[in-house]
Amino acid sequence: MKATKFLKFLVITIFVFLIIIFSVVSYNIDYKMYDLKADQNLYSQNLWEINTDSLSEKLLSMMTLEEKIDQMYGEKMYKSIPKFFGNFILKQKFPHIYAGRNKRLNIPPWVLSDGPRGARVLNKNISSVTTFPVAMARAASWNTLLEYKVHDVISKEMRANKTNYAATPCINLLRHPGWGRAQETYGEDPWLLGEFGIAAVKGIEKNNVMACPKHFALNSIENSRWVIDVSINERALREVYLPHFKKVIQKGKPASIMSAYNKVRGKYSGSNHELLTKILRNDWGFKGFVSTDWMYGIYDGIEAINAGLNVEMPWQDEYSYNIIKKGINDNHINLNQIDSLVLTTLKTRLKFAYSYDSIKYDEKLILNASHIDLARTVAEESMVLIKNEDILPFEISKNIKVGVIGDLANLENTGDMGSSNSSSPYVITPFQGIKNLFDNINTDVFLDDGNNLDETIKLAKKLDQIILVVGYTYEDEGEYVMSRGQMLKSAEAKELVGIKGIGGDRESLKLNKKDEKLIKAISKVNKNIVVVYVGGSAINMNNWIDDVPAVLFSWYSGMEGGNALASIIYGLVNPSGKLPFTIAKNDSDYPYFNPYTDKINYGYYHGYTLFEKFNKKIAYPFGYGLSYSSFKIDNFRLSEDNTDKNIIKFKVDIKNISKVYGKEVVQLYVGFENSQIDRPLKLLRDFKKVSLNPGEEKTLLFKIEKNDLSYYNEIEKKWMTENIKYNFYVGNSSENNSLIKYKEGIDI
Ligand code: BGC
Repeated sequence: MKATKFLKFLVITIFVFLIIIFSVVSYNIDYKMYDLKADQNLYSQNLWEINTDSLSEKLLSMMTLEEKIDQMYGEKMYKSIPKFFGNFILKQKFPHIYAGRNKRLNIPPWVLSDGPRGARVLNKNISSVTTFPVAMARAASWNTLLEYKVHDVISKEMRANKTNYAATPCINLLRHPGWGRAQETYGEDPWLLGEFGIAAVKGIEKNNVMACPKHFALNSIENSRWVIDVSINERALREVYLPHFKKVIQKGKPASIMSAYNKVRGKYSGSNHELLTKILRNDWGFKGFVSTDWMYGIYDGIEAINAGLNVEMPWQDEYSYNIIKKGINDNHINLNQIDSLVLTTLKTRLKFAYSYDSIKYDEKLILNASHIDLARTVAEESMVLIKNEDILPFEISKNIKVGVIGDLANLENTGDMGSSNSSSPYVITPFQGIKNLFDNINTDVFLDDGNNLDETIKLAKKLDQIILVVGYTYEDEGEYVMSRGQMLKSAEAKELVGIKGIGGDRESLKLNKKDEKLIKAISKVNKNIVVVYVGGSAINMNNWIDDVPAVLFSWYSGMEGGNALASIIYGLVNPSGKLPFTIAKNDSDYPYFNPYTDKINYGYYHGYTLFEKFNKKIAYPFGYGLSYSSFKIDNFRLSEDNTDKNIIKFKVDIKNISKVYGKEVVQLYVGFENSQIDRPLKLLRDFKKVSLNPGEEKTLLFKIEKNDLSYYNEIEKKWMTENIKYNFYVGNSSENNSLIKYKEGIDI
């Protein structure tokens, strides 16, 4: 007995000792940074003049089976586990995981960096990068050019951090606002998601970084992501949950795509032949490579190979030599399949490793002034003014008392701390932003966390302007990590079994009790108040919205967020953000959502299509947001040059009829008159963001491809366009009263 105890003690001690040694070593392993570009010295011609397709074929022919398999996973477990332990757990630094390096054949590796709001993997000399507002905020800007610029910066900083594969953009659909990772995506609408996804991919690949849209597919619940099985009919799949993936693949042409953790119709996404081969490659013509989501991405290597999955991340597990060799010996897979998967990866990634770089990606690029300016501009353009009873903008006056109140008032709060986290050198909090604005003005700016309600009320009574900051942090929503076993148990029990982790799905859409209490109490004693909401998705405001004159959604607004907030509240910048989702009046009207479940059905309707079709009350519509200017949208007409049979062109005039410079988002929707099938009342099909000086008028051109009016015919298994009348609407929100209808339906 004593001997067994001693043995146990010895094993544990050795284990701990080894982990410490490995961790120390791993810190250095990560510091050894490999070149990601091919070695120019080996060639007589310029790298970018080399035909990488033929080179890939040649390299493949020179590889042993082991070497081929080495192209099919991130790293060996014994290398990457200590790296994670040493860097990530002990130093909160995400390591460089090098995939596919082959020293013998001089093939450089590729390295992933997450990056939904800024590069995540840093190098030994760099401890921070430019941190932008979260993707949901950027979607609220409805400005795809900005999204392109954001990704140009993110990918430049990735290159300077010696990484060349961006695990972004996330283009999963926001089906329910409670989804924990809502902040990482672009909202509820497939059209908006697609347009933003394309902009992101193009911005990333401009700097020869491979883009990897994720998570393919149907990953819209967090707490049970490793165990949930999503059932869906073909129309909902093709028309609602996949069109943005298709568009991003076909128009953005990303190098890669990341499979999701969840099952789709009974099969894990990473080994789902229908998703990875039938739809992605055969139907859409995807030419890049598929990598798994990290850990728990696949459970059966042979099935994944047969499904068309190229690379297992982050380490070799199911794609082990033994499993693959046995699969070949047992005739469950053949060598051609391995060759084809490896060749696809090589052809795709060597293009990047042999590409021409027009700039030098050195460390000086990181956090340069133009990057920081962009972070501020994006934050400004993304904020959505939800309610304003003539109170905003606040006046910048001398000798007044301004209060910035709430737990979040002075908190550095840039969102999720999971894979979308990004380290910035500083974060301007709401309080600091307001303080900066009043820097040289003799005005008192008070900070109060609201923890002592009596004191806060006393202060509120004497304030001239109140900015009350409410909402969430990474503890309330975000990526959720618990053991798979616990996820499974919770899913089976339909409630959390065990200890609540950080982040995850929101089980209530309301603000926390303290925030609601503060809003009620302060608004009773002082009506010069704006409630600023920080978060990643819709909230339920029913309990308090009528008590306050102004509400602004500021989201997780990045490193420059506080400065942007001050500019908006004090009118230095005119708000121009629009909601990328619908806010329901009653929470029960959103689609069924349960964070703890192992089975769910995703229906055809969600978001505005659901609220409109079933006549459900909404609090605020998709595409809605106020401005300090007023605009007149008028003269909606067919364009004179409608010569292309496959495209319908419309024009519309917009005039700024106020005295304030501003920006407006004009949205075009299409409706289906007398359709013989079940269709939404209308769908977004184009949008334009335009800036206008006071009195200025502009004409906007909208183009709608006829293919974009089609529906997926489940019986014929193809997209079809009905010969019916199509109605077209334009306006500055999806709400019917704010839309102008083109005078008559158009026959197609
Ligand atoms: C997330 C991915 C992420 C990956 C690597 C996973 O847990 O779901 O979005 O890219 O980790 O950090």
